[in-house]
Amino acid sequence: MSLKNKIEKIQNLFNSELASANIDSTVIKELQIKYLGRKGLVSNLFSELSSISADEKPIVGQKINELRTNIQKSFDELNLSDNIDKQQTDVDYSLPGNHFFNGAIHPITQVINDISNIFKNIGFSVYSGDEIEDEFYNFEALNIPKNHPARDMQDTYYLNFEKLLRTHTSASQIHFMEQNKPPVKIISPGRVYRNEDISVRSYCLFHQIEGLFVDNNISFADLKGVMEFFSKQYFGEDVKVRFRPSYFPFTEPSAEMDIYWGLETESDYRITKGTGWLEILGCGMVDPEVFKSVNYESSLTGYAFGIGIERIAMLKYGITDIRLLYEGDIRFLRQF
Ligand code: DAH
Repeated sequence: MSLKNKIEKIQNLFNSELASANIDSTVIKELQIKYLGRKGLVSNLFSELSSISADEKPIVGQKINELRTNIQKSFDELNLSDNIDKQQTDVDYSLPGNHFFNGAIHPITQVINDISNIFKNIGFSVYSGDEIEDEFYNFEALNIPKNHPARDMQDTYYLNFEKLLRTHTSASQIHFMEQNKPPVKIISPGRVYRNEDISVRSYCLFHQIEGLFVDNNISFADLKGVMEFFSKQYFGEDVKVRFRPSYFPFTEPSAEMDIYWGLETESDYRITKGTGWLEILGCGMVDPEVFKSVNYESSLTGYAFGIGIERIAMLKYGITDIRLLYEGDIRFLRQF
């Protein structure tokens, strides 16, 4: 076969092979090597040039050059060599990886979950109340009638003449007792609102966990025992607690419970106002007036408690400004 015929044959073979090839990096690479490689079909043609006559050489040589250019052009037109390069360079294993941040549980949610679990383990179920209430649930049914001085204790955000943002989770007690017969054994965590001056110690919203236990023959000793149990579970066996007499309209008698925080640092002095003790909850025996307002038998007994979450979170995580808990600043939240 003459060299000219071979050139034609190779061109035709290339055309048909390229037409049936997938545009796939390995197939194309093989074709490139087969035709344009150092020992490929085109190079072979060049080496055969030496066997033809001197006057034919320039013409045939030009034809082989044309063939090589054509084949190269076909690869170029399909951008194949480019594709191959890209596929090889798309992933640069030496680049530093992307850093994805994991979400985390907010310290308030963490405290609520931990405390809820302690009470769930001793048989309390969780009931969620609403944040929008009216005066009956937030005040009247809890034995806080209109003009009662206790309403001043809790500066209320009114939404209109009827509706308000609950000032405490105690409103959940009433809803639950209205809907359920005794015995009652619930906790009710949630957000509450008060129109307070905003400072490092107080904010216009905060969180509480309400507790309510109603049955026959419940005594103050039961309440004390459960509060001590909770304190030990949460703060550790060595925690020191004390009960101080207090006043709430919906419990009688009422108490507040402090835990001993210590007086080692300057901030301990500031947090505990120089006493070493920190109040974390209010509690007491359910006032018979409350049972009356939900049509419960007057022979029932029960205790209730309300735990302040923010204080515990601040203690536990060493947070010195309450506002950090609500600002959503990623530099703060990333620490948990
Ligand atoms: N509701 C009270 C407050 O917000 C806290 C409280 C005190 C809740 C005594 C109770 C309780 O259930 O028995 O200050």
